[in-house]
Amino acid sequence: MKHYLQFNDFNADEYAYLLERAAFIKKKFKAYEKYQPLTDRTLAMIFEKASTRTRVSFEAGMYQMGGSVVHLTTGDSQLGRAEPIEDSARVISRMTDLVMIRTFEQTKIERFAQYSRVPVINGLTNEFHPCQILADIFTFIEHRGSIAGKVVAWVGDGNNMANTWLQAADLLGFTVHVSTPGGYEVDEKLAFGARTPRAGCYQVFANPLDACRGADLVTTDVWTSMGYEAENEKRKKAFADWCVDEAMMAVAKPEALFMHCLPAHRGEEVQAEVIDGPQSVVWDEAENRMHVQKALMEYLLLGRIA
Ligand code: CP
Ligand code: NVA
Repeated sequence: MKHYLQFNDFNADEYAYLLERAAFIKKKFKAYEKYQPLTDRTLAMIFEKASTRTRVSFEAGMYQMGGSVVHLTTGDSQLGRAEPIEDSARVISRMTDLVMIRTFEQTKIERFAQYSRVPVINGLTNEFHPCQILADIFTFIEHRGSIAGKVVAWVGDGNNMANTWLQAADLLGFTVHVSTPGGYEVDEKLAFGARTPRAGCYQVFANPLDACRGADLVTTDVWTSMGYEAENEKRKKAFADWCVDEAMMAVAKPEALFMHCLPAHRGEEVQAEVIDGPQSVVWDEAENRMHVQKALMEYLLLGRIA
């Protein structure tokens, strides 16, 4: 049994398979062809933080594949009343086939997985957001072909998205140019754990404009992630120069794409002209969450097909 708790839980070969499978599954969806390999399977979705895309993409995706979902939140389950996570894991995984969790600390999802009888998927933690990066890479490939050897500029917080981009660069052979304000840097230990990353898989730039120079993809995220709301005012000051604007896009490659996992704050981490401009692929990126996660659920439950 496999879990998907962070991006480096799978190897490059598994990603090649998953990305191909996601394209196959997306094609069927676009042609209105029924594809229901997960009939009678149930996905439990546990949300300890808010969500629009993650909920809709997993829920719609599971129904489309013939299965069903159970939606739990902290507020309407015993999770919010201090039932031990290990007990919740034992109970929920006896009645369902797959569990998706959005929570705070990565250690929480790891503890859940340790006591779960079924595969567990990370739907975002403070440290990682692997389903999103899987969708972003799929979207890049759809628009521009292989991501190997390419440069991804990360402008903004050294957060869950940034950590996951670093893991992906290490595994899939591209480079991340990271630019964060002082005090919000990526932490190599947190991103890679005990693993030694491939030399040169990421480079740090003090100036966000330098990070964007020559990039194939420019991407950013909110200045204040969920769970860090108390730091909002302080962050607004610290991040003022980390707004992806037209000047940053102008120094990237002419064919560079812009991505944002959403939700976005126009005028903060990105200028409206960029996110609503011709280089932005954010709506494809959001839709692709569903297609890649259908491939992921199929893989975790049925293994490789053919
Ligand atoms: N990108 C993303 O995970 O969006 P939600 O918070 O809406 O799920
Ligand atoms: N970094 C953001 C991503 C939201 C999808 C957060 O954790 O809130």
